[in-house]
Amino acid sequence: MNKPPGKAANQAPGTTTGQQVKRVSVVEVSPRDGLQNETQHVPTPGKVELCELLLAAGVLRLEATAFVSPRWVPQMADASAVLGQINRGASPQPAQVCLSALVPNLQGLHAALAAGVQEVVVFTAASEAFTQQNIHCTIAQSIERFKPVVELARQRGVHVRASISCALGCPYQGAVPADAVAQVARQLLDLGITELDVADTIGVGTAGRVQEVFERVAAVTGVQALAAHFHDTYGQALTNVYAALGVGVRTFHSSVAGLGGCPYAQGATGNLATEDLVYLLHGLGYHTGLDLPSLARTGQWVSRILGRRNASRVGCALEAAQLAERLQ
Ligand code: HMG
Ligand code: MG
Repeated sequence: MNKPPGKAANQAPGTTTGQQVKRVSVVEVSPRDGLQNETQHVPTPGKVELCELLLAAGVLRLEATAFVSPRWVPQMADASAVLGQINRGASPQPAQVCLSALVPNLQGLHAALAAGVQEVVVFTAASEAFTQQNIHCTIAQSIERFKPVVELARQRGVHVRASISCALGCPYQGAVPADAVAQVARQLLDLGITELDVADTIGVGTAGRVQEVFERVAAVTGVQALAAHFHDTYGQALTNVYAALGVGVRTFHSSVAGLGGCPYAQGATGNLATEDLVYLLHGLGYHTGLDLPSLARTGQWVSRILGRRNASRVGCALEAAQLAERLQ
């Protein structure tokens, strides 16, 4: 794995020896990516409570929901209600909170704007087969569809980022060349989108491939434009974060309790757990602004509510440690 030039051997990628605090931005995606694949209906108040607990834990960038077809993703049918009901006052820094939502087209954007969204996420893929399954069009058609979305969002002062799925492999096509990811990134950049989420939708990436893909894309976009969105199907997500940090990526997506999945990627498990990501980052000396014990309690709570095993190793370890303390 590449080490950034000029760093001491024992120094974490991106930290400095001076007084300057080095930050990593964490985008919490559990209310959207985490819940979209849940077969049991989660009532709106439960979704809102999850969002507010995350804000209370210090989350500033929260992907709250998706304005997509309820026929395809029924769990997101209450997108307007969720976005409208979240109390930013739950955050210690309400003015800094940015609530985002996925929008596949203008119809989604109109609804998201009416609900008061601050950031929208358009989404395509580096694989034609996945794009067809997910949003029923070609990659080129998706880019065309995004043009008016970006234009209107910009007029309304709403930030746009774009997600590129299957950047490290596709459930239908298999291998995805790094050049294909870079090509889609170029087209999104040409639309004026300055933040690109490079996503390992099915969690098949390994550190070497992550380094290759992020370096290839960064050569086109600049590394500051990139965020990493890792799923943990093969248990590689944390290692992949470390690889991406080495390339210079400083924005990561994660989901409390490791919730998540994509309805169009059967067998893929949840996102990298936020608790695990934060434990790694704090251990490396990065500042995230997130409160780990509070995140862990939220992960334990949501796992109980959903009747799921908590997929965060750190969340489980902290719960066991609390229990042991209580028994002493
Ligand atoms: P379509 O059926 O091809 O499009 O859907 P359409 O334009 O012909 O519309 C058909 C119907 O959908 C119409 O309703 C529209 O009104 C409605 P009808 O007349 O039949 O009653 N419709 C909508 N309804 C609500 N909101 C909208 C909207 N647009 C159309 N925005 C579409 C195309 C893209 C809408 C559809 O395929 C869709 O919603 N797909 C869901 C995609 C999705 O949510 N995937 C999961 C999220 S992506 C992901 O998880 C990956 C990510 O995490 C990164 C990673 O890990 O890779 C981001
Ligand atoms: Mg995802």
